[in-house]
Amino acid sequence: MPRAADVRNMFDRIVGRYDLLNRLLSGGRDRAWRRALRRAVAERKPAAGLDLCCGTGDVALELSRSVPGLELLVAADFSRPMCREAARKFSRAGHSPHTCCADGLLLPFADRSFDFVSVAFGVRNFEDPGSGLREIARVLRPGGMAAILEFAPPHSRLLKALYKPYLSLAVPLAGKLVSGDSGAYRYLASSIQSFLTPEKMTECLLEAGFQHPRAQKLTLGVTCLYTALR
Ligand SMILES: C[S@@+](CC[C@H](N)C(=O)[O-])C[C@H]1O[C@@H](n2cnc3c(N)ncnc32)[C@H](O)[C@@H]1O
Repeated sequence: MPRAADVRNMFDRIVGRYDLLNRLLSGGRDRAWRRALRRAVAERKPAAGLDLCCGTGDVALELSRSVPGLELLVAADFSRPMCREAARKFSRAGHSPHTCCADGLLLPFADRSFDFVSVAFGVRNFEDPGSGLREIARVLRPGGMAAILEFAPPHSRLLKALYKPYLSLAVPLAGKLVSGDSGAYRYLASSIQSFLTPEKMTECLLEAGFQHPRAQKLTLGVTCLYTALR
């Protein structure tokens, strides 16, 4: 598993071109993945939520614009430059999630604070994903929902054959050309390839105290939306 300090330094470095590379490397699909997460959250009609590992704030913005009745939204990340960028984006858009610099493994919130916690592409970066999931469970109210987007290793032989060179060659090259940081994008590729399968992730959610975990495959299964109830 990655060391937290290395992960934080890496995200501190790539914040400037982070959004552009997201759009480019996902072929624009990242927007559809965030919308799928927002739809799952909106169904629960939550009043208070936490978007953990908020990065530059795209998920929090999507939630604060389009979840009716949402009164409190906190966007948290342990990278200060990411939090600053998210806060700038929120104020430009005239929306008001609160930003908070915090470690997902040690959240500064009381037990049972939120109706949902969303995490998009963050759990893969936790030094200890199991303890991150337990911490998310701790801050959720009974019946509250975790909504987690994460990459998944592809299933089909054909997709695996196409995906491997894309991850190991094209992703680091694009990272180098666009953000000047091939190392960060090599890490992205290797962390995707070594992350938990949907079956294993579902087991981890149960072990962390969640109920009714569901895994919805998106874009041929390269990304998965996990939902689970506290
Ligand atoms: C791949 S980015 C995802 C950002 C955003 N959710 C999105 O969908 O674009 C992962 C983010 O998780 C944050 N992160 C990783 N580990 C964390 C931790 N232990 N606590 C808080 N934030 C963390 C990083 O700083 C980074 O901004």
